[in-house]
Amino acid sequence: MILVTGGAGFIGSNFVLDWLARTDEAVLNLDKLTYAGNLENLASLQGDARHVFVQGDIGDSTLLDSLLTQHRPRAVLNFAAESHVDRSIHGPEDFIQTNVVGTMRLLQSVRAYWQSLDEKQRTAFRFLHVSTDEVYGSLSPTAPAFTENNKLEPNSPYSASKAASDHLVRAWLHTYGLPVLTTNCSNNYGPLHFPEKLIPLIIVNALAGKPLPVYGDGLQIRDWLYVKDHCSAIRRVLEAGRVGEIYNVGGWNEKPNIDIVNTVCTLLDELRPRGDGASYKTQISYVQDRPGHDRRYAIDASKIERELGWRPAETFESGIRKTVQWYLENQAWVTHVQSGAYRDWVQTNYARRS
Ligand code: NAD
Ligand code: TYD
Repeated sequence: MILVTGGAGFIGSNFVLDWLARTDEAVLNLDKLTYAGNLENLASLQGDARHVFVQGDIGDSTLLDSLLTQHRPRAVLNFAAESHVDRSIHGPEDFIQTNVVGTMRLLQSVRAYWQSLDEKQRTAFRFLHVSTDEVYGSLSPTAPAFTENNKLEPNSPYSASKAASDHLVRAWLHTYGLPVLTTNCSNNYGPLHFPEKLIPLIIVNALAGKPLPVYGDGLQIRDWLYVKDHCSAIRRVLEAGRVGEIYNVGGWNEKPNIDIVNTVCTLLDELRPRGDGASYKTQISYVQDRPGHDRRYAIDASKIERELGWRPAETFESGIRKTVQWYLENQAWVTHVQSGAYRDWVQTNYARRS
């Protein structure tokens, strides 16, 4: 089996669902179930013996040691993290605890387990660390896209904590020989995305008749990748990636935020027109910018294409249409995640911006 951490979050749950749809190899899913973890994402796996869920923290060494000894995975994929930049600005502590200390503890437990394997299993074992393009910092409008050789120049508490975890993973290879792989991916979007991030927030607010908050001038650029394409890239790196290598993953889809918001509004105008006939674009509201807001991210994903033959299957146009349709068809999921804690966060983040 494989061990997936953070498999009840957005990307992790998409990964687990896709994995079990493709293979019978079981998944041990370790997730703390923070506000971002949601077992409802995995409801379709209820009763499926191939999915073993354990609620727990990647920083809990005792739990990790016993899970590894008991289940003997052939690979560990680390998705678990605090992942939202705005939350890291309001409270960096959890980000250091999970993304840095938690990753270190996970690496330590995995190393001890890996050393206990026989030589054949040790050679085949992999630790795959799921990271972000945000570790590379911000690009000027004309700079070339990030390659794996870019320096890590993180600017937010979130990206700094992810960069620290990337360094730890590298160190566990060089110092202890642990067979690691790292992926640095651009902004994901798709089903099961928690509506604190831009795309699901815009869909959910639009349908609720609420303002669509665009930070600053809305001209910050991100590269966007449909989440299922990220999952296929991770599967491919796990299968064929060279030990110790970093693989940048991206969608070749650089877009300013305001274009993303306009695209979502246009799709909603077509698929679920407002009662009064006006466009959802009339709800767009420019609000105070994020402090230290990175201006542009862009990923050069040619290494993973050249070496491993991976390319995204979705264009932005096909992926965003599927995403909007998914939210329209899964209103109950949205209602369930909008708990009291969610409403508190919306108040914390947006009250002072208007
Ligand atoms: P998410 O916030 O939706 O999910 C994170 C999951 O990790 C949640 O289920 C949460 O309960 C769990 N978790 C948090 N702390 C934990 C801990 N201490 N122990 C165990 N589980 C814990 O995040 P996501 O968007 O699914 O991102 C997954 C990974 O991919 C993260 O490492 C993130 O940095 C990386 N990434 C995300 C994006 C993106 O656009 N969302 C892009 C590139 C890379
Ligand atoms: P987000 O989805 O939080 O991802 P990240 O910060 O990791 O890139 O934000 C994507 C972009 O959208 C980012 O430039 C910030 C911007 N943004 C808004 O303009 N309004 C919002 O309400 C949010 C949450 C983000």
